[in-house]
Formats: sequence, structure tokens, C-alpha cells
Amino acid sequence: MFDTNTISRFNTLETPFYYYDLGLLYQTLNACITAADKYGFHVHYAMKANFNPKVLAAVQSVGFGADCVSGNEVSAAIANGFDKSKIVFAGVGKSDREINTALDADIFCFNVESIQELNIINELAKAKNKVARVAIRINPNVDAHTHHFITTGLDENKFGINGWQLNEVADTLRKCANLQFVGIHFHIGSQITDLEVYKSLCVRINEMQDWFEDHGFQVKVLNTGGGLGVDYHNPDQNPVPDFEGYFKVFKDFLHIKSGQEVHFELGRALVAQSASLISRVLYVKNGQKKNFLILDAGMTELIRPMLYQAYMKIENLTREFENESQISNLKSQILKYDVVGPICESTDCFQKDVELPESFRGDLIAVRTAGAYGEVMASRYNLRDGIQSVYSD
Ligand code: LLP
Repeated sequence: MFDTNTISRFNTLETPFYYYDLGLLYQTLNACITAADKYGFHVHYAMKANFNPKVLAAVQSVGFGADCVSGNEVSAAIANGFDKSKIVFAGVGKSDREINTALDADIFCFNVESIQELNIINELAKAKNKVARVAIRINPNVDAHTHHFITTGLDENKFGINGWQLNEVADTLRKCANLQFVGIHFHIGSQITDLEVYKSLCVRINEMQDWFEDHGFQVKVLNTGGGLGVDYHNPDQNPVPDFEGYFKVFKDFLHIKSGQEVHFELGRALVAQSASLISRVLYVKNGQKKNFLILDAGMTELIRPMLYQAYMKIENLTREFENESQISNLKSQILKYDVVGPICESTDCFQKDVELPESFRGDLIAVRTAGAYGEVMASRYNLRDGIQSVYSD
């Protein structure tokens, strides 16, 4: 929901740009921290969701750790003031250079995704005369009930170590003198809206921690990953996710032993609702079968709808603002449009058959809930300009 001052401000700016509502961002971060603190849970922000420096500054200021998936993310977390002892590093393909970056930084822990990787981290740590803390990322084979492109915890996915390899993991850990086992790590997928899924994950985590304890390993950390979803359909009604309900599932269903730490890696839930992509209608094409709204933003600025068939709410800010100030019987008629971008690809379509007030060249269009995996996935394809950001402050 944008107020009239904000829309007037947009009217003076060149489009497209991401607009960040920093007030909502802080409100969301604080809601999450409050809910996590209730149970003493630790949250690492999944930086991949958005590494815009203003967003990182906000996340860091409320005390979250950082969940990184590249050496550059580790370096950026440190440069942005995140505590090294609260940095975790995951990823199926960590290069030697990236591992060395993380070893030099003495990060809290590597989330290790294969037995071969365990051996390589051990070798590189040995060369530096260091001991690397590691958690084993286990593929729990739990279906996240989300889009198959963003499911990660099934046997068919490339992530993590499968249950049948655990004996070999235990042998490797025993013989690697430069590794210190700290715990187990999971991540089953993203945009998970059915909390029941997390109950199934808890059952698997409990089984796995028993396995490690039975084989003589103390499990200090249970890292449950991220994935909590947001309401893409009703951003104004549900701007802040249900962090309380989410953490309560883990409190109720995990067997948390005394002295054990429970870690989370939330990305989307913390940042998605706080940004929108703002663009303008360049052209309106009225066809016999279809009407097209051609925007000045496309898949180069926001690729989620094209890559994952993701729904993201589209609004015509100019007409809605106008309608608000008119009496209801003067409201402009509603039409159906395919809302598309300018890129030379047929897939460059935000959404088909969107019902919008009759729209015209120059109207401001918002694509809502774009704060996660939006700006950070932008590209320069077609040699487009880089995307700009505008902030509520
Ligand atoms: N931890 C690990 C190991 C992950 O791989 C991810 C996300 C997260 C945490 C954070 O997940 P979140 O809380 O944000 O769901 N680009 C896709 C989403 C890819 C998610 C990748 N991994 C999208 O736009 O839907």
C-alpha cells in the first residue's frame, strides 16, 4: 500500500527501480528477532535473498548472523559488520579459494554438502594449521510442497549428503584432525507456506541427531535452514510473516537437548515484503485476442515470474490513486492485460490476464513483494541499464 506522497515522489523519478520500505523492513526484522528470542533460537540471514547494502545494514543492526553461499558473500558479510562468529557457509560447490577465504575469516561453521568436500576442507585447514568447524548438511528427503524449481531436500536434488552415506561421513570425521564437528544442517526448500512440512522436518532432524549421538558425536547445533514463505497474494493484509507460529513448530517438535543451539537461515521471509519493483507503462497494445501492457522493466530487472512461474501481485498505482479520489461510479473500467517487459524473449511476461483499471502510457506499475530474489537476480541481458534502488528514507 503506497500513500499519495510516495506515489507523487515516484512520479518525479526515472523508472524502473526497486523501492524499499525501510520501516516495514525493520518491523519485520524486529518481529522475527522477538519471536526467536522467546526460545533462545539463533537466526542467520540468508544473504542470497538480498545483499543490497542498506538491507544488509538493517539486518546486521538488529543482530542476525549471516548465511553465505559464496566466498564473496562471506567477505561482504564481514565488510558489512556481521560478526564472524555468526557466519555460516553453505553450497555444493565451494571452490578452494572460497574455502580459504572462510578459513582466513575464522567463520563459525561450514555447512558441508559432500564427503569429498569434507576431505578438501580438512586439507586446506591443515595447510593453514587451523581447525575448521563443520556441520553436515543432510538431505532429509522431505517434500517441501513448494514449486519443484525451489525444492532442495529430496533425494533427487543435488544438495546435501544422503542418509545412506552417514557411516562414511562418520569415518571421515574421525580421521580428519583439522575438522571439528559441530552439528547437522538441513534446508528443504523455499516459499514454504504449509507449516506441517516443518513438523516432518523436525521428525527427520530428531532421527539424525540420535544417529550422530549413537555414533559418538556430540551434536551442538541443529540448523534447520530457511524457507518460510510470504503472502504474495495479499501483501497489504499480511506484510509480516507468522514468525511466532513458525518457531513454535520447532520448539514443540524438535528434541532440543540441554546446551544445544537451534539455528535458522531465513532469507525471503525477512525481506520480501519490504520492496516493490516500480516501472512505467511504455506502450499499450490492444489486440483482438489480448491486450498487452508493455513495461519499462522486464525479466532483466525481476526474473522470478519468468523463471519459477511465480505469482507476484501487480498494481497500477496511477489509476488506483486516481480511483481513490473519485466517487465509486466514476471508477475506470477493469480490463485484462498480459503484463510484459521489453526484453526480446517471449518468456518476458510478468503475468497473463491481469485484471487492472484501464491503463495508459506513463502509468506507474508496481510489482509487489519483490524484496527477496529480485534486485540480486537482475542481469544486464540486452545490455540493459543496471537497476536502481530508492528508499523510503
Ligand atoms: N539456507 C539454504 C541452504 C538455502 O539454500 C536457502 C535458499 C536459504 C537458506 C534461504 O531460503 P529462504 O528462507 O529465502 O526461502 N530464487 C528462488 C529461491 C531460491 C532459494 C535458494 N536457497 C526464488 O526466487 O524463489
